Amino acid sequence: MGTPASPTLDATQLARVIAAVRDAKNILVLTGAGISAESGVPTFRGKDGWWRSRNPEELATRTAFRENPRLVWEWYEYRRELIARVEPNLAHHALAWLESQGKNVFILTQNVDDLHERAGSRQVVHIHGSIWSVTCLKEDRTFEDRRVPMPELPPLCACGGVLRPAVVWFDEELPHDACARIENYLQQGGIDVAFVVGTYVTFDYIARWALAARNSGALLVEVNPDETSLTRQADIVLRGKAGDIFSAIRAGLAIPGLAIPDLEGGAGPAIGDAK
Ligand SMILES: NC(=O)c1ccc[n+]([C@@H]2O[C@H](COP(=O)([O-])OP(=O)(O)OC[C@H]3O[C@@H](n4cnc5c(N)ncnc54)[C@H](O)[C@@H]3O)[C@@H](O)[C@H]2O)c1
Ligand SMILES: [Zn+2]
Repeated sequence: MGTPASPTLDATQLARVIAAVRDAKNILVLTGAGISAESGVPTFRGKDGWWRSRNPEELATRTAFRENPRLVWEWYEYRRELIARVEPNLAHHALAWLESQGKNVFILTQNVDDLHERAGSRQVVHIHGSIWSVTCLKEDRTFEDRRVPMPELPPLCACGGVLRPAVVWFDEELPHDACARIENYLQQGGIDVAFVVGTYVTFDYIARWALAARNSGALLVEVNPDETSLTRQADIVLRGKAGDIFSAIRAGLAIPGLAIPDLEGGAGPAIGDAK
């Protein structure tokens, strides 16, 4: 089934975004499940986004884990296997490329996958945790664990404690360190462009951070094939798939005379060099 087909992209709006990105120094990117959809990771709420016809909101809670840790782990195991075998797509690569071209690209993702990092992005904050980390409930200690599959479900720590996925569930608070990083970043100001990509913006804090960037002067750009709860507040809406749109932005930045980057992904001169 895959992701929805891209509606026609508005060329004028796209040109405005390309110009803004070309001039930008600081770029904030808020991403959600939709940016990983073209890699083959299902979104939560899309038509492909169901797992064994269960609602993730029933599985991704502390209560669900207490009641049936094995079932919750089966769901995470399924997603760990999937995420381990998929690859970053054109959108992840374009964002990493922008950073390699000298832009200060700060990514705040709701995704628990590591596709931004695997594409090469270096400033990535996971506001909902990482599927590759676990927390020992006995020691209250979080550490990386990339075993796929786990030897047993639920997996156990060396100390004998039960391990849980180190992700933020629906009945839990956001991690303080990740919140502090985004709040500090926003307080510094100077954000030129803020992208909101592949997220329905269900959570108030995502909308709040996007609007804080906009209120401090950033151009707020939504990238999504569908309308979202933030659409009406965006300065520019680019309707389409993230991979298509970021490829178009990347190609647009390579216009002759503006320090043509190597579109095959090699290290080209910085975009800003020609100015
Ligand atoms: N990859 C992952 O790690 C992953 C996967 C599924 C869900 N989640 C979780 O989902 C929750 C938040 O929901 P959300 O808003 O991120 O996802 P969501 O499922 O609510 O919404 C997905 C959004 O992506 C859009 N979309 C679909 N295909 C797209 C494409 N090719 N390009 C751009 N946009 C596309 C949809 O129109 C929709 O607005 C978070 O808790 C997040 O951790 C994460
Ligand atoms: Zn332990």
